[in-house]
Amino acid sequence: YVIGVDLGTSAVKILLVNQTGEVVSEVSKDYPLIQEKAGYSEQDPEAWVKQTIAGMKELLADFSGDKNSIEGISFSGQMHGLVLLDESNEPLRHAILWNDTRTTAECEEIYNKVGESKLLDITKNPALEGFTLPKILWVKKHEPELFEKARVFVLPKDYVRLKLTGEVHMDYSDAAGTLLLNVANKEWSSEICEIFELSADFCPPLVNSHDQVGVVLPEIAESTGLSEQTRVFAGGADNACGAIGSGILSEGKTMASIGTSGVVLSYESDGNKDFQGKVHYFNHGAPDAFYTMGVTLAAGYSLSWFKETFAKDESFTDLLADVDTVSPGADGLLFTPYLVGERTPHVDAAIRASFIGMDGSHERKHFARAVLEGITFSLNESVEIFRNQGKVIDSVISIGGGAKNETWLQMQADVFNAKIVKLSSEQGPGMGAAMLAAYGCGWFASMSECANAFLQVDKEYVPNEESVQKYKELFELYQDVYTQTKELNK
Ligand code: XUL
Repeated sequence: YVIGVDLGTSAVKILLVNQTGEVVSEVSKDYPLIQEKAGYSEQDPEAWVKQTIAGMKELLADFSGDKNSIEGISFSGQMHGLVLLDESNEPLRHAILWNDTRTTAECEEIYNKVGESKLLDITKNPALEGFTLPKILWVKKHEPELFEKARVFVLPKDYVRLKLTGEVHMDYSDAAGTLLLNVANKEWSSEICEIFELSADFCPPLVNSHDQVGVVLPEIAESTGLSEQTRVFAGGADNACGAIGSGILSEGKTMASIGTSGVVLSYESDGNKDFQGKVHYFNHGAPDAFYTMGVTLAAGYSLSWFKETFAKDESFTDLLADVDTVSPGADGLLFTPYLVGERTPHVDAAIRASFIGMDGSHERKHFARAVLEGITFSLNESVEIFRNQGKVIDSVISIGGGAKNETWLQMQADVFNAKIVKLSSEQGPGMGAAMLAAYGCGWFASMSECANAFLQVDKEYVPNEESVQKYKELFELYQDVYTQTKELNK
């Protein structure tokens, strides 16, 4: 067996997986967000550790097998969150999370001091509030006495792993989201560190996601019920692990994941392409690979907002039951999903959503369909960016909430003009973490071999030519809405 730990933003989900990739049992333990001011989003690193240990204990309590048969553990983690450690590797303050937006001034400082083109050249990504370097600069500026005591920084899952093993490391896939990594060369950028006067050992030693970094400490073995021999592998960023858990492990593989936010993520073997910062461009969790990723901020959130506002007492299934009776284009009703701003392609926190083209004959089902279409159009913006860079996208693996509804799956095929593949069982980042442990333990010769053994296709959805044409025309109109409405909320 192996264990995959998915350290999310609201909870840690722990999977026990056997050698055929079956999830034998799973446990989830939550922890609170700390939001002291508007735009602030923090968590107590000790809460992650406490809940991970409690979760493992629960998982092991129900396990009837030999504890020595659990060979390895690995991790998937919420990205970008800053955990500052003192010389005893204890956190100096709460972690500042990926969805904390207090760092607009620090992003400007990064552009001013590094320059946009050099930043893109080295880190492959723009300076966004969510990334780690702006958070480091914020603490340096606003809490200088505390920052004096900082010896090293890590990311959320690195801290949990440190408490399990006593070892400090960071893997390339998570380091890629810090704005301190030279993504193509896979090394910390001494140039950026020098510009911001960060000492070389402020950045932790880098490892591959499947590298073993230790074994569980005796006291952790004692409190969880694990064996002291259990090998611990570095793990990766949640998006990288989500990609591994969906088999995005070779050129031409792309996935669309619709959760609260939505992601279109595509495998990349080359770390030196120029996407001009239009999409995220990070190191993969699979060795020597990369991925590009576009983000729709309010994907599933748009649908849950719609349900909460207009169909509070109904289930999602009821809400979507009759959307297939409305034809593509929702009889002229168009929705843009900018309820909380948009990342890809606009990087605009101020833009807001719209319904356009309402007709007296429209019923709720037209609105529900328009919401699904608007979310899918937004994801298609990322697909288009990839295609414009020469990527071939003829098949997309769909996971998350967007893969739970047949009409939505067909809609993705028609809007993306690509075959949509649905997996028979989908565990996302936690499964990716378990696969890293399985590969690290030597169960498979490659990550792809592991994916072939662990993941099965359930169903495929082929584009319908007529709907593809209809959506092509509508997508152009959809793109105009941003330009025409962006001044409304300024
Ligand atoms: C990626 C990002 C989020 C977090 C969520 O850039 O900010 O997807 O990884 O955990």
